[in-house]
Amino acid sequence: MNHHYGYVSERLITEGLFPQRRARRRERGPGGAAPVPTVDGLDVEAIRTHFDFPATGRVVTNNAATTQTPVELVDLYRRLAPWYEGVHRGQSTASQRMTERFEESYDTIATWINAPSRRTIATYRATTEAINAVMYSLLTEFRDGDNVVTTLMEHNSNFVPWYALAREVLPKFGRSVECRVARFDHDTGELDLDHLAGLVDSRTKLVCVSGASNFLGTKPPLDRIRAIADAAGYLQPSGQRGSLLLVDAAQLAPTTLIDVQELGVDYLAFSFHKMLAPFGVGVLYAREPLLERSLPFLYGGDMVADGQVRPDRVEYGGLPWKFAAGTPNVLGVVASAQALRLLADLVLDDGSPRFEGCSPLPREDVVRTMSRVNSHVASLTDRALAGTDGIPGLRSYGPPTGAARSPLLAFTVRGTDPRALATALDREGVEARAGCHCASLAHWDLGLDPGTCRLSFAAYTNERDVDRAVDALAAVVRRG
Ligand SMILES: Cc1ncc(COP(=O)(O)O)c(C=O)c1O
Repeated sequence: MNHHYGYVSERLITEGLFPQRRARRRERGPGGAAPVPTVDGLDVEAIRTHFDFPATGRVVTNNAATTQTPVELVDLYRRLAPWYEGVHRGQSTASQRMTERFEESYDTIATWINAPSRRTIATYRATTEAINAVMYSLLTEFRDGDNVVTTLMEHNSNFVPWYALAREVLPKFGRSVECRVARFDHDTGELDLDHLAGLVDSRTKLVCVSGASNFLGTKPPLDRIRAIADAAGYLQPSGQRGSLLLVDAAQLAPTTLIDVQELGVDYLAFSFHKMLAPFGVGVLYAREPLLERSLPFLYGGDMVADGQVRPDRVEYGGLPWKFAAGTPNVLGVVASAQALRLLADLVLDDGSPRFEGCSPLPREDVVRTMSRVNSHVASLTDRALAGTDGIPGLRSYGPPTGAARSPLLAFTVRGTDPRALATALDREGVEARAGCHCASLAHWDLGLDPGTCRLSFAAYTNERDVDRAVDALAAVVRRG
């Protein structure tokens, strides 16, 4: 049984898949704090036993920047290390096993976002690099007079590449391309769809939007944006009409179910370091015909067809490896894909382990996992919004309580520097983040200099964390 996965998982199965997990369940926190009751069917206290950070007493409320890592994942990385080898083209058993695990990781990632197959998945260092990959792959396709439409609520990762393309790169090739930015409502934080629709026209090659803002928390309606892009009438080199749609899902993927086929997106990018796996891996999903047609982003080894390199002719490998130049981050990709399986185990807690398992991850498990995660973090966000509501001088940004939003709360307090606020919160043991969170355009648009202070939550955040953060904030503001 399970030879497919080689020694590592055979040993795991022999020893039982979750020895640590069983041992770690229901430990009490520092000071013997009693477990907080289950919220929305999610046993948060059981989930927290899979992490080391609760034992430090940290109130980790900066999860929009990066998340904590479960012990099983760190352990997996360590256990994979003795079997580490490069992938593809190696003759050793170790290389062949690594190759299998590496390639299967693409299947897990594809299932997670309901991509049709691994052929549509490329891995990069993070969301930023994935978006740049799109930019460089499309570089030669832009025609003089084209435009790209993005929004004022983007992370710099989904604005600066398009700005640079239009203002710096293409002009050097004698092509004039415009980068247009759609507004958002300053009170509700909602994207101004009418303005966006007005910017998109028959010369809009690409529309680039955030699936969830990392500052306002807004989740723009991707179905309506898809319709706007479709109606544009732009003539793509494939002969298809309509603008391409790229979604920056860095803040969407960690807590929301994604179905790239249902959304009909052309490109979607996210980062694993915001999804429990800080091993330097980001994902780009792209529709297969686009990957087939477009130029690679990086050129070199591994992305070429075996033996098909001559001085006058180079053939690229099949998908997805055409987009995987150079020695990849093998262990990072394997551990990152396993983070998804582990999250399903921790959230569903149904005694059927998927972490290190040998069968494909059922999409249905992903649906159930993300539904629970989403309702859990939504209730935490509403709790934080309600808790901070009466704090004198506090203004929070983005959609109101109850609206669909990512699990974060950015705010200012009248007369207080947000950086001083974050430092004061840290003295109370609460980790917030101050600045413009790389959402520079939105802060500029709202006249918020030097920025805002932000609290953000994850699947392992409990109500006690939220209450401690809110109480600490109230106390800091009271003291002045
Ligand atoms: C919405 C959004 N897009 C892009 C990024 C960039 O992600 P990375 O630093 O992993 O490239 C972030 C990170 O904070 C983000 O929140």
